[in-house]
Amino acid sequence: MEIKKVAVVGAGTMGSGIAQVCAMAGYEVWVRDISEEILNKAKETIEKNLRKAVNKGKISVTKLKEIEAKLHFTTDLKEAVEDADLVIEAVPEVMDLKKQVFKEICEYNKKAILATNTSGLSITELSKATDRPDKFVGMHFFNPVPVMALVEVIKGEYTSEETVKIAVEFVKSLGKTPVVVKKDVTGFIVNRCLVPYLVLAIQDVENGVATKEEIDATMLYNYKFPMGPIELSDFVGLDILYYSTQQWDIVPKSKLLEEKFKAKELGMKTGKGFYDWRQGRPKIPK
Ligand code: 3HC
Repeated sequence: MEIKKVAVVGAGTMGSGIAQVCAMAGYEVWVRDISEEILNKAKETIEKNLRKAVNKGKISVTKLKEIEAKLHFTTDLKEAVEDADLVIEAVPEVMDLKKQVFKEICEYNKKAILATNTSGLSITELSKATDRPDKFVGMHFFNPVPVMALVEVIKGEYTSEETVKIAVEFVKSLGKTPVVVKKDVTGFIVNRCLVPYLVLAIQDVENGVATKEEIDATMLYNYKFPMGPIELSDFVGLDILYYSTQQWDIVPKSKLLEEKFKAKELGMKTGKGFYDWRQGRPKIPK
């Protein structure tokens, strides 16, 4: 099966990154979100990333123009998904919302491979909302998508081997490294380890075990992680972590995280989470 047109449904941090790497790999990409405001923000982020790449000599101006011409933005789901060969869903991490979105996608498209970028919800459960569970697969990218090489390809209970193969080849065509997750476990490989670690660190801040700066400095400078857990929580989005505490059985709950979520202090994307991001990455003292 040849993939030409890709639809990305949901244009937040992950959706816009996915759309960018698909267009850079030469696919015709349709990006859909419910508001023009979100679409404009996605467009701006992609343009900014591409301009940076030009300035660093990684791509030419001609290439930038080619990539931008491959990107189409719309609020119309039908327009985005009809004729698509692959649909990648990247809407918020709420099971019922994702199911509803897939039901609608199936009304307008009868042939595409359907992929979800869920952080850890059940692929099998999501596939049941579609008319083609055999053509349904997890395709989990990491933030920032243009930088992170890894993509998890998750096999649900009904996903066919053929679909896994197509997904793996597609991920490779983006210049990324696929890892096949053979069992549909909560959080897959990475987030099964990562998300409980992040929320435990948030609990430690909440319980006064150490300050957020002390925890981050320990993991950043002494343990040599690229980011400490509290900064990384802000970076991935506190909404994503909060939803995981509500829907995943492997993640502890945190009152502090709930407060941040309710105050809409979601981390880097809103300018404030545990840290202030308005001037860029927080400076963690050594
Ligand atoms: N978008 C695009 N490019 C970005 C970027 C972004 N948001 N942030 C950084 N970059 C690029 C920079 O332009 C730079 O590119 P260059 O090499 O061409 O110059 C490169 O990444 C390195 O950036 P910096 O030099 O500014 O900064 P760092 O060296 O500190 O790297 C980082 C930044 C790559 C974000 C690094 O801190 C890191 O790896 N952090 C951890 C990220 C991580 O763990 N992500 C996974 C989270 S889990 C997840 O996403 C799953 C979800 O389901 C929860």
